[in-house]
Amino acid sequence: MTTPSLLILPGDGIGPEVMAEVRRIIDWFGARRGLTFDITEDLVGGAAYDAHGVPLADATMARAQQADAVLLGAVGGPQYDTLDFSLKPERGLLRLRKEMDLFANLRPAQCFDALADFSSLKRDVVAGLDIMIVRELTSGVYFGQPRGIVEEGGQRVGINTQRYTEAEIDRVARAAFELARKRNGKVCSMEKANVMESGILWRDVVQAVHDADYPDIDLSHMYADAGGMQLCRWPKQFDVILTDNLFGDLLSDVAAMLTGSLGMLPSASLGAPMENGRPKAMYEPVHGSAPDIAGQGKANPCACVLSFAMALRYSFDQGAEASRLEKAVEKVLAEGVRTVDLMQSEGESPTSTQGMGDAILAALDASL
Ligand code: NAD
Ligand code: IPM
Ligand code: MN
Repeated sequence: MTTPSLLILPGDGIGPEVMAEVRRIIDWFGARRGLTFDITEDLVGGAAYDAHGVPLADATMARAQQADAVLLGAVGGPQYDTLDFSLKPERGLLRLRKEMDLFANLRPAQCFDALADFSSLKRDVVAGLDIMIVRELTSGVYFGQPRGIVEEGGQRVGINTQRYTEAEIDRVARAAFELARKRNGKVCSMEKANVMESGILWRDVVQAVHDADYPDIDLSHMYADAGGMQLCRWPKQFDVILTDNLFGDLLSDVAAMLTGSLGMLPSASLGAPMENGRPKAMYEPVHGSAPDIAGQGKANPCACVLSFAMALRYSFDQGAEASRLEKAVEKVLAEGVRTVDLMQSEGESPTSTQGMGDAILAALDASL
């Protein structure tokens, strides 16, 4: 078998800091589990803009298309805020998602027991939580035309268009139903069919896919605003949440706080199967480049580490090794190792990004 290829794009801010820990963990899997990858590292976001004048070079895009999986840190930063819209770091990330056609963004929100008291919600509400948000990632208002800022009646008008085709809804709905079959068999689809035609179509297509091919799944529909409220009221009522690009962006940040910190949430962005049967895929933490703590060695690398675990599971058929890594993270948290985002009181002393990496490596050693 040829060595699987992995394109690593650390990006900006805390991206390179958390990715450095993931690199050490990847090396561990090479040395101790015989799992080796053909790794290429490249630039994305502000780092790519600084080097090439664009947030994603064509050569990097081509590498991403060829790779068995892409692992991305984070993009963005205040120094790029005044750039032309087309050059902003975020455009690099959006181009990767769009051109690789990564339509299904899996954002699991799992509350590790050791962090249940750390959530801003009561322990009862979050303890044992394990939900999966499936966010449509390549369409909707993020990409719909027309868009822009135009001059109209002597003033500027900002325009974005929410647009979904039946085929786009159909394929992401199938991804959610397939996942639900491997979990607890429940899907709650969220839109705003009460005020948006795209929401009416969304509900209609999701229901039709369900009735035709997934009647065994317990499907419900909810307006996305009520969904946000229910996520905070009693999140354990959900198993898989299926939603569009923008609502999924918002709801997954809400879900982050159920788990204790944005620094804990991984994600997998999956496309259609490639020739080898595996999906085209990019793995990235849900968090951003965290400019407020960048360069200080404070960032929590767990979200990026857990994103690599998702890569082991979904791209490299290494479910058991993925679980080994997830359990190592769980063990470290149970032992009380905490980065600054996981601190409950002023008195505690946080560990560094590297300290968290060391602890996870030690837990991996102990797992053998
Ligand atoms: P952010 O996720 O970067 O940060 C929000 C808050 O969470 C900050 O206080 C930050 O310190 C904290 N935080 C985030 N990740 C953390 C971690 N791993 N460890 C400890 N604390 C962490 O969101 P933002 O501040 O709204 O955005 C900053 C920049 O990141 C913007 O340019 C934005 O566009 C970009 N962004 C990129 C991605 C991505 O690359 N996937 C995602 C979201 C935001
Ligand atoms: C995310 C981010 C991105 C999004 C930005 C950085 C383009 O917020 O991945 O959640 O809005 O999708
Ligand atoms: Mn987001």
